[in-house]
Amino acid sequence: MRRVIAIDGPAASGKSSTAAAVARAIGAHHLDSGALYRGLTRVALDLNSLDPSSIAAEAARRKLGLDHDGREIVPFLDGRPAESVIRTSEVTAAVSAVAAIGPLRDWVNDRLRAAASDDWVLVLDGRDIGTVVFPEAVLKVFLTATPEARARRRLAQRGEDSNERMLALETERLAARDALDAGRAVAPLRQAPEAVLVDTTSLGFQDQVARIVALARKALS
Ligand code: DC
Repeated sequence: MRRVIAIDGPAASGKSSTAAAVARAIGAHHLDSGALYRGLTRVALDLNSLDPSSIAAEAARRKLGLDHDGREIVPFLDGRPAESVIRTSEVTAAVSAVAAIGPLRDWVNDRLRAAASDDWVLVLDGRDIGTVVFPEAVLKVFLTATPEARARRRLAQRGEDSNERMLALETERLAARDALDAGRAVAPLRQAPEAVLVDTTSLGFQDQVARIVALARKALS
């Protein structure tokens, strides 16, 4: 039986780094589903099109897909690891629009489901993992923090100044992305009724990881 741990939540809630640390602690595989939406967005920007069939055809031509780096499952594009080309501000600004296109969500979900195996536990983070992609997940966590706390972390991560103006701007940007992700018609960002809410506004990183590791061990036992 496939065993998936779903970690969903809004932008910059620390899902991906938390999910990776949880996976390391319990010897599971980890996959950040947003990376595939970012990969499709890179392709859409290069193609200058939002037509799903053209994007899917170009993604196939450029071999957008997933591969293993140890227990991390990571995106590849043009035969190379895609991380550096999918984390740009250009991709971040455009990705919510791409992620709202139904046929492209199906494209991503097919690949996420294919990456889950009977042979390992998969920690998967995203927006709709517990609600849509793996409703049968053994554990669902909804990770959140106030927009201001998330903005502060995002700025610190990028090594940028967190003066009041920058903080207000980043908070606004995150709120706009949350609104797009939560307001779209297909698979909107929302907490599954059975998901455990973990609010990290005043939790340290190690504490939030420890809390989820404990939940994961219990769910898997
Ligand atoms: O987590 P992230 O910022 O890398 O995600 C990029 C975008 O992809 C974000 O705007 C929401 C979208 N996304 C989604 O709609 N569903 C997922 N399961 C993962 C990400």
